[in-house]
Amino acid sequence: MKKPISMTRRDFVRLGAGTMAAGLAGKNVTILEPSILRASPPPAEVVRFGIIGTGTEGCDLLRASRRVLGIECVAAADVYDTRHETPKEILKKDIDTTREYRRLLDRKDIDAVIVATPDHWHRRLVVEAAQAGKDAYCEKPMSHTLEDGFAMVDAVQTNKRILQIGSQRVSSILYAKAKEIWDSGRLGEVDTIEAVWDRNTDSGAWVYPIPPDASEHTIDWNTWLGDAPKRPFDGRRYVSWRCYKDYGAGLPGDLFVHLISGIHYITGTNAPAIRAYSTGGIYHYKDGREFGDLQWTIFDYPKFQVVLRCNQNNKYEDQLFTFYGKKGTMFIRGEGAPAALGAGASLAFRAEPEFHTREDYSIGSWPEKQREEYIAEWNREHPRPAPGNYNVESGEEIYTVSAGYSDMVDHLTNFFQAVRTRKPVVENEVFGNNAAITGCHMSNYSYFNKNVAVWDAASKAIKSA
Ligand SMILES: NC(=O)c1ccc[n+]([C@@H]2O[C@H](COP(=O)([O-])OP(=O)(O)OC[C@H]3O[C@@H](n4cnc5c(N)ncnc54)[C@H](O)[C@@H]3O)[C@@H](O)[C@H]2O)c1
Repeated sequence: MKKPISMTRRDFVRLGAGTMAAGLAGKNVTILEPSILRASPPPAEVVRFGIIGTGTEGCDLLRASRRVLGIECVAAADVYDTRHETPKEILKKDIDTTREYRRLLDRKDIDAVIVATPDHWHRRLVVEAAQAGKDAYCEKPMSHTLEDGFAMVDAVQTNKRILQIGSQRVSSILYAKAKEIWDSGRLGEVDTIEAVWDRNTDSGAWVYPIPPDASEHTIDWNTWLGDAPKRPFDGRRYVSWRCYKDYGAGLPGDLFVHLISGIHYITGTNAPAIRAYSTGGIYHYKDGREFGDLQWTIFDYPKFQVVLRCNQNNKYEDQLFTFYGKKGTMFIRGEGAPAALGAGASLAFRAEPEFHTREDYSIGSWPEKQREEYIAEWNREHPRPAPGNYNVESGEEIYTVSAGYSDMVDHLTNFFQAVRTRKPVVENEVFGNNAAITGCHMSNYSYFNKNVAVWDAASKAIKSA
């Protein structure tokens, strides 16, 4: 029998995985290792790709791409001239850079594109890439509107292309372990899944500095606006586009969709939620933004409920998923705990006691004799195993990842392997569309309409309850 380690949920949350791995080494902490095959393919199978949008996430993806074998970035498109420099710095080589994304789609030697523009450009770029015969890795949330998502599904499937959406936790070894625990049935029936992602920084609240040279001269503002309403150049909208409905989707588009993708992956869900109810508001950032700095949504699924919360005003919980089952509880903790508490993502499983306990609360109103007879009878019918022979899993199993592990590297690796082998990816167009419909569009529909959003699969529409 495993020796129990006594830790409460709070202890688990407070301790970083690094701390736990060090403090509990040799007990029941397991450090997970990537299982993805990391071998260089022959030169003929090197995948050449271009990137459209070399802002914050585009640059992070390029940095991660340097750790993926058998791929080569040959071109980058961005409507902001200064963002033609960073990709070359990251890749430490000269590549073709342009304001015109079409130039990448027209190149015959490019197999795939990464789309890392703001959300309002995802549809056009993925559809045109598919029509040009390119596979695409498109950042989350897949769609800016419901219609965008279905148009993207159609284009990808009609042109037989691979599309992977960029919620990288779907390729994380930690989430694969969580899925293994879920699939094993060890949690028992789960009726509630909670996930929070809390922040309290300028980065977390999208209060980004405007680059000193950003202007209509250095940025093709008209193209950046795309199909959004025309307006004069606005550096605040350019950098903090997540705050505005024309380009982004607030906390649901930024974070809920990540949480929902993780939950859909672990639970094997590939359909929108049945209904959603949101609430929240703008409590601190009264800077003209159109989305809340706090949002909650409760989603009903056929077999469980999902409760999500994101806020930008206190980061105590950071990133935490909790799966509450009849037989056990599973926690997944994010990477962003304060450094002093140890860094790194981690997962824990704690079993509920397997034997069921005597109901002692309501019998407080029974007369003593009646109570004692009931207790004696119950104990006769429920003999306890001898001490030390309990058939229960005790203590907490803890899993973590080694320092330097990157789920983004694994997610990119999965995408480029699919481009090479034509085998499907998990986070494909249908998965990405369902996650965006749920995490983004149903959540915001309810938030802005102040009523319950119901998914109507027949008409592919969100309706009010
Ligand atoms: N997976 C993740 O963890 C993660 C993290 C951050 C952002 N994202 C997603 O990545 C996307 C980009 O976010 P970001 O923070 O990098 O935004 P950003 O504003 O920093 O970068 C977007 C870039 O796209 C460029 N661009 C816009 N339209 C273009 C067009 N038509 N052609 C060429 N370039 C164009 C802009 O000039 C800008 O440089 C968003 O969809 C966001 O939700 C994902």
